[in-house]
Amino acid sequence: MSLLTRRAVMAASTGLFLARATATQGLEIRRAAPAEPFAMGVASGDPSTDGFVLWTRLSAGGASLDAPAVPVAYEVAEDEAFHRIVRHGRRAATPTLGHSVHVELSGLRPGRPYWYRFHALGAVSPVGRTATAPEHAERARIAVSSCQHFELGWFSAYRDMVAAQPDLIVQLGDYIYENSYAQFPKVRRFDAPEPTDLDGYRRRHATYKSDHDLREAHRLAPWIVTWDDHEVENDYADLANLKGLDPQVFARRRAAAYQAYFEHLPVRPSLWARPGEPRLYRRLAWGDLLSLPVLDGRQYRSPQACNPPGQSGNRARRDCPGLSAPGRTMLGAAQEAWLDRTLKAERGRWTLLAQQTVVAPIETPDGVMSDQWDGYAAARDRLMRSMTRPSVRNAVVLSGDIHAYMVNDLRIGRADAAPVATELVTTCLAASHAPPARYGDVRARNDHVRFADIERSGYTLIEATSRKLDIDLRAVSDQADPKGVAQSLARCVIEDQRPGAQFTV
Ligand SMILES: [Fe+2]
Repeated sequence: MSLLTRRAVMAASTGLFLARATATQGLEIRRAAPAEPFAMGVASGDPSTDGFVLWTRLSAGGASLDAPAVPVAYEVAEDEAFHRIVRHGRRAATPTLGHSVHVELSGLRPGRPYWYRFHALGAVSPVGRTATAPEHAERARIAVSSCQHFELGWFSAYRDMVAAQPDLIVQLGDYIYENSYAQFPKVRRFDAPEPTDLDGYRRRHATYKSDHDLREAHRLAPWIVTWDDHEVENDYADLANLKGLDPQVFARRRAAAYQAYFEHLPVRPSLWARPGEPRLYRRLAWGDLLSLPVLDGRQYRSPQACNPPGQSGNRARRDCPGLSAPGRTMLGAAQEAWLDRTLKAERGRWTLLAQQTVVAPIETPDGVMSDQWDGYAAARDRLMRSMTRPSVRNAVVLSGDIHAYMVNDLRIGRADAAPVATELVTTCLAASHAPPARYGDVRARNDHVRFADIERSGYTLIEATSRKLDIDLRAVSDQADPKGVAQSLARCVIEDQRPGAQFTV
């Protein structure tokens, strides 16, 4: 793929396609464009009752632009044909931010769809569809996605997700994988080695954006995202890392990975207002029906217990006193205090806590996994206390990470205590699965695990009303088949003020 020359970009910029042009004019100019500047697609995210953030990143057919700042125009309309344009404006796509563009909008009408598009370098972007959150909602449909390894599977599950027309898509991390797994069969390959710097992470994200199903899911629904470990490096914890590198050295890699993440996803720039302090924890809402606190369980956590100093890693552990040491944290003090304040003031009918790793205790044949909340037992006790404050009417935790579906009762204290909350663990959208011996018979060992499937890839679809959540665990037929289809693997219901899932099939 040839890079755009500076001269070509400058020439095309002067003919920038301004807002309010017609579709026919757009086609004429697109033919003259030197490359496909919108090959990475468009996206929207973090809807509020009066706005959202819009995203795109300019490229030369998916490769980084070698160009100075490029003007980009945006338009937002109340109809798909752009007859009623309600916002338009311009931004500069700068090389400092990889020619990405984030537009935060406010002052729009609540609870309705909007359509948007960008213009740059003589081309028009695909038209994206998004929505503002309602002030009052009778129902909501949420798709939950986690763990997508580009080499190990096709992203067919997104086709099923888009067909379900969700109001929101929630991505719980491992949006990209930095590493390749030599031992597993591949359906396609990364075009570059493991990233360690900004150029490398940009290229890895660009590879992901070459996936049509992923781009379409971004184009057709607003996303709420958070990250896990593979956006930087497997199993990292704050600055502890797999190779035990000097924290200052790893900090540079992490900062590059964080910046590339921001450049490729619809994250509100106002959240990242302070340079060097990227923030992802925040609360979203869908009317009075859903409250969605979103957590960052990577950036501030203590290293996994019983590892050598400075070294991260997920191990099955027993007889490791650090697992329950009270001073250890998953969220960091500031985020933990923020979450407790947020839940104290909770007013949604359903609180869906969007976060990364498994909260329920999971006993495996070799102990508990040190990277999960099991490795941070005191922090988990504090989380459970916050989640069960009287202001929280229905506590549901959304988790990912382990490439398995699990539906768990969350309890406090005795193993036979009544559940106080429910955990829905979403499997990988496409990735490898743990060998069966890792978990053994999960349900036999863990009475509070109500459902487990450690073999399939897919996602979770949740239909919320004031009375209940209808949950559909949707699995793909074969992630190695580009035409793979998803269907229901299991369904369950969580009723209002009755923690724990009821299985219907
Ligand atoms: Fe993962």
